[in-house]
Parts: sequence; structure tokens; C-alpha cells
Amino acid sequence: MTTAVSALAACSYADTATMLTAEIVAHKQIADNTYRLRLDCPEIAAKARPGQFVMLRIPERTDPLLARPLAIYDTFSLPVFKIRTNPLQVQPNVFSAHQTHAPHRYADFVYAVHGKFTTALKDLTPGSSAVVWGPLGNGFQIPAVNHLLLVAGGIGQTALLALGRQHMGAAAYGMPLLAVPQAQAVTFCWGARHGGLFGDVDDFREAGIDVHLATLDGSIGHKGTVIDLLDNLFASGVPPTNDSLHIACCGPEGMMAAVSHWSSARQLPCDVSLEAPMACGIGICFTCVAKVRDASGAWDYRRTCIEGPIFDANRIEW
Ligand SMILES: Cc1cc2nc3c(=O)[nH]c(=O)nc-3n(C[C@H](O)[C@H](O)[C@H](O)COP(=O)(O)OP(=O)(O)OC[C@H]3O[C@@H](n4cnc5c(N)ncnc54)[C@H](O)[C@@H]3O)c2cc1C
Ligand code: FES
Repeated sequence: MTTAVSALAACSYADTATMLTAEIVAHKQIADNTYRLRLDCPEIAAKARPGQFVMLRIPERTDPLLARPLAIYDTFSLPVFKIRTNPLQVQPNVFSAHQTHAPHRYADFVYAVHGKFTTALKDLTPGSSAVVWGPLGNGFQIPAVNHLLLVAGGIGQTALLALGRQHMGAAAYGMPLLAVPQAQAVTFCWGARHGGLFGDVDDFREAGIDVHLATLDGSIGHKGTVIDLLDNLFASGVPPTNDSLHIACCGPEGMMAAVSHWSSARQLPCDVSLEAPMACGIGICFTCVAKVRDASGAWDYRRTCIEGPIFDANRIEW
């Protein structure tokens, strides 16, 4: 019964999605092998909530034939990227009342070039278009907390920016707008192989989020993994141990498993955004299944496109 109800509820995420051909209004490289794309897609941008994603295709191409999922990085009212005169300068919160209440028209996506789709996507110039459907997936549903801890590995920051901005009160999302209690603090720990992979970190800083970076080669930030970063932060009293805290995590599967075990050992609640390969994005093909445990501890396959991609980390059979 519970499963049937949750499956029905999950289907509604795909039911409210829109498919459209969207104009690319801005596109640029922001880090090694990493690009940022802005699409004119008001029907999707206005509704999008933190942690949701879209399926994206290049029109009139049959190779690759299938769309690919990309997280909705953020939404905007303007078609142009913000120009940063001094990329190292930490700027104050840039939120304005206008941004909160006017429905957003543009959605940004940040992607790493992997295979056929992203290699072709990176060559599309403003004025060309992409077929997009969304917003899809459940999105984050974080309870009221004092402290939100965002943890990303690799390109996993894309699922976390909007969530952090929302909890800092720097932006509002959804239609109708989600009423989300502000956290007292949001901390962001981001690990990558090397410093050249960090793109647009100031998006987090400008929202007032406390940013900590780690690289395996030590080129930027702490030398080590994101788990080392978490250990160091907690050893230094950030956040205070009596703080009500929730972790939101996205990255490669091994990294998310490690963060899940780390948080479970400390009895800290943790949600993960799974990045299972997806073929349809709307619950039909079952390519995206993950082993998810129920309250009794028994696991079953769940379609991450309509029952996720956000899951309680403790429920995942890693
Ligand atoms: C909900 C969701 C949100 C996502 N958001 C983003 C995002 O914001 N930015 C971003 O860069 N990527 C994101 N991804 C991952 C992205 O969809 C895949 O990397 C996609 O396959 C790239 O397409 P491609 O044709 O370029 O590479 P492909 O040819 O599909 O794949 C290239 C290589 O990567 C491997 N691969 C493909 N998908 C995955 C995966 N999910 N996990 C591990 N290995 C994989 C393939 O086996 C292959 O070796 C997201 C995935 C999901 C499910
Ligand atoms: S991607 Fe087809 S069922 Fe999830």
C-alpha cells in the first residue's frame, strides 16, 4: 500500500513536466572540461525546485538518440551571465525582492564533457536550440534545520547550488513559491581531482554560503578528499556539535557512499542525489533503478527518475 501510494505520488513529478524546444541564450566554459549553458525555458524555470533535473536532447540529431539528464543548476530572470570583474572577490548577497517574486524565465545547467552528448552540446552557440523536458524528479525536501551542509564531489555541485541559496534566503523557487525556513548557516564542502575543475565557486560564496575546497593533488584548498574536509571541519567545531544539521550530497557513487557511511556513523541525516544513467526520465524504461531499502530494511529496485533522484542516504544499498 505504502509503495503504491509513493509510486503514484512519484508519477506526478513527470506529469507536471513540460517539453519544449528552448533557445540557448548563453553558453561558456567555466572550468577544465566544464561548461555552463543558459536556456530560455519559462515553463520549466518558473516551476523548478532545488534538486530537480531536466532531460536534454540536441534537435535533429539521432546520435546520440536518447536525451541525457542534467541537474537544474539555478534559474534567472535575465538572459545574460553575470560578469565578475574580480573573480576572487567575495561579494555580498545579490538577492533582490524582484528576483524572488517574478517567475524566472531562464534555467542554467553546468556539465562536464563526458561522451557523445556533452561533446556535441559544448559546440552549440547562442541562438541555436535544445529540446528539454522538465522539471523532473522529487527535488530536495529538507526539514527546518539550523545548519545545512552541502557536500559535492566532481560535478556534483550542480544539484546543490539552488538548495543552498534557498536555505540562505538568497533565492526562492517553485510555483507556487516554496516556503522554506531559512537555516542559520549553510556550509559547502567540494572535492575534486584538481583545482582546475572548480567553476563558478563564487555562486555559492555570493549567497553567503561558507565554502571549503579539497583537491586530491593539493592544487587548491585542502590536499585530500572531501571526507578529510568533513573530518577537519567537525574537529574545528564547524558546525557546533549541538546544532541541528542536515547533509545534502551529490557526486560520484563511491564518494556518495563514503559520505553516507560518514554521516551514518555520526547519526547525521543525509540526503543524496543519485546520478544513475537514464534513458527516458519519466518512469517507463527502468534503466535508472537503484537498490533502496524500506523501513523494514528490505531492498527493492526504485526508479531514480520518478522516485528520486533524491533519497535518504541510509536507505541506499550502496
Ligand atoms: C539526475 C541527474 C542529474 C545529472 N546532472 C548532471 C549535471 O548537472 N552535470 C553533468 O555534467 N552531469 C550530470 N549528470 C550525468 C550526465 O547525465 C551523464 O554524464 C551523461 O551520460 C553524459 O552524457 P554523454 O553522452 O556526454 O556521456 P555518455 O556517453 O552517456 O557517458 C560517457 C561515459 O560516462 C559513463 N556514464 C554515463 N552516465 C553516467 C553516470 N550517471 N554515472 C557514472 N558514469 C556515467 C558512461 O558509462 C561512459 O563511460 C546527471 C545525471 C543524473 C541522473
Ligand atoms: S529513466 Fe526510464 S524509468 Fe527512469
